[in-house]
Amino acid sequence: MRNVTGEQLAQVDNPDPFASPVWRSPVYRTPEFIIWLVQLARLIWRVIWFVLRHPLVDAAAGLVTVIWLKARWPGVVALAAVVLAGLVLLRAWRPVWFTRLVSGPVRCRWRWWYYRRHWQSVMTITRLAPAYRGRVIVPVLGKVTVTGCTDRVMVALVSGQSPADFAARADGLAHGFRAYLCRVRSSAPGSVMLELVRRDALADPMPALPIPEVTDLRALPVGKREDGTLFTVRLQGTHLLIAGATGAGKGSYLWGLVRALLPAMAAGLVSVWACDPKLMELAFGRGLFDAYGRYAADPADIAALLEDAVAQMQARARRFAGRQRDHSPTEQEPFIVILVDEIAFLTTYQADRKLRERILAALATLTTQGRAVGYCVVAALQDPRKEVLNIRNLFPDKIALRLDEPSQVDMVLGDGARDRGAFCDQISSDPATGAGVAYVRLEAAPDPVRVRAAFVSDDDIRDMTASYAPGFPSGLAALPAGEAL
Ligand SMILES: Nc1ncnc2c1ncn2[C@@H]1O[C@H](COP(=O)(O)OP(=O)(O)OP(=O)(O)O)[C@@H](O)[C@H]1O
Ligand SMILES: [Mg+2]
Repeated sequence: MRNVTGEQLAQVDNPDPFASPVWRSPVYRTPEFIIWLVQLARLIWRVIWFVLRHPLVDAAAGLVTVIWLKARWPGVVALAAVVLAGLVLLRAWRPVWFTRLVSGPVRCRWRWWYYRRHWQSVMTITRLAPAYRGRVIVPVLGKVTVTGCTDRVMVALVSGQSPADFAARADGLAHGFRAYLCRVRSSAPGSVMLELVRRDALADPMPALPIPEVTDLRALPVGKREDGTLFTVRLQGTHLLIAGATGAGKGSYLWGLVRALLPAMAAGLVSVWACDPKLMELAFGRGLFDAYGRYAADPADIAALLEDAVAQMQARARRFAGRQRDHSPTEQEPFIVILVDEIAFLTTYQADRKLRERILAALATLTTQGRAVGYCVVAALQDPRKEVLNIRNLFPDKIALRLDEPSQVDMVLGDGARDRGAFCDQISSDPATGAGVAYVRLEAAPDPVRVRAAFVSDDDIRDMTASYAPGFPSGLAALPAGEAL
């Protein structure tokens, strides 16, 4: 057979005239030394580029070289000892600086390398690396930020990709990067942020948080966020709806709020009016409400309580009219929190139509007019179906605990919340791992955040009542063993 070389398109030598023609492409042979030369040039260029982009590494390498030239091994060992001592000192003296300047960046870099190693394979296998003109184009791995339990990975999208493409592959990404969960956050146009949860910070129940020394109505501590930071709830200037299936842990949010309000309640700056139609939740700390507010359990009493609140609110609005546009709590004009457990029992399941309408009207008035004059409604709800609570949109802030169906998530948190990662229907129904776990939308960002309330136990409530309302009984008497209610 004739050797085929460049420049010609030759038919393979075949003595059979009837055989179909077979053609070979021309073959150009690059001389080996040119290949070596090009690879060398590329290597030199990469080294120069690395040196230009890492001035700190250059300085360190320069220092080590100078010391090596002047003092050889003893010098280098002394330098290493000085650096180590400096780091230990910084860690002991200013742990926050150490985290910000040393351990934080090192961890980010280390995780970046981890993602870099797996990037191409995971992107290709999850089909997020499309082919264009015969070439595979991979999204570009950007900055990696490490927090307590999560990694935030910035990704530059391939032209034509959208965050929804990543959201559809979130499961594959999570498994591919050995993460527990992957949430896709949209950021600037053309990029996306992957939030990969390495460890579930909310897996274990938390004991009740300490009662704060002063109450901040804009940030009442009730639990922990997924990244390990404190989760605070704002009540001033808003109304709050807490939705969750039965046993989801709504009580720990209600009691967490009351606990954080205690100092202001004791100072007479906050008054809590409790409506407890089920008699099971708020009755336990009734002494507190009797001492620093009001308590009602019977639907007729609740209607009267809510109508009283409306009348007082309107009187306050008349006093404020033309004088001030915002309310700051004083002993004369305290901040009023109206706690309603199981609101659907009052607004939908209530058989007495007149009573139901009175309650609905009062709640609608309080939620529409109360914000600026220091009235806040906090309501708990089991079933968020539309017909159950048509005043749902009057609550600007919402907390969604475990829900029965995926469609209920958007009903509580707003359209698209589940697509953005609020998987309330997947929260475990085992109280040890799932009770008190919820998703919230914070003011600053549209993406839902996973949180868990600290568990305020019966003993905690008893202690709160005993130390803040000593003259009042601590609610339900304990049942003797074996006796039914
Ligand atoms: N934050 C929490 N951490 C751990 N466990 C909790 C937490 N909150 C509640 N639990 C557990 O879950 C159980 C149910 O909680 P809770 O009574 O608050 O539910 P709920 O949502 O009010 O239910 P329902 O609608 O039936 O009243 C509690 O008895 C408690 O054991
Ligand atoms: Mg309850």
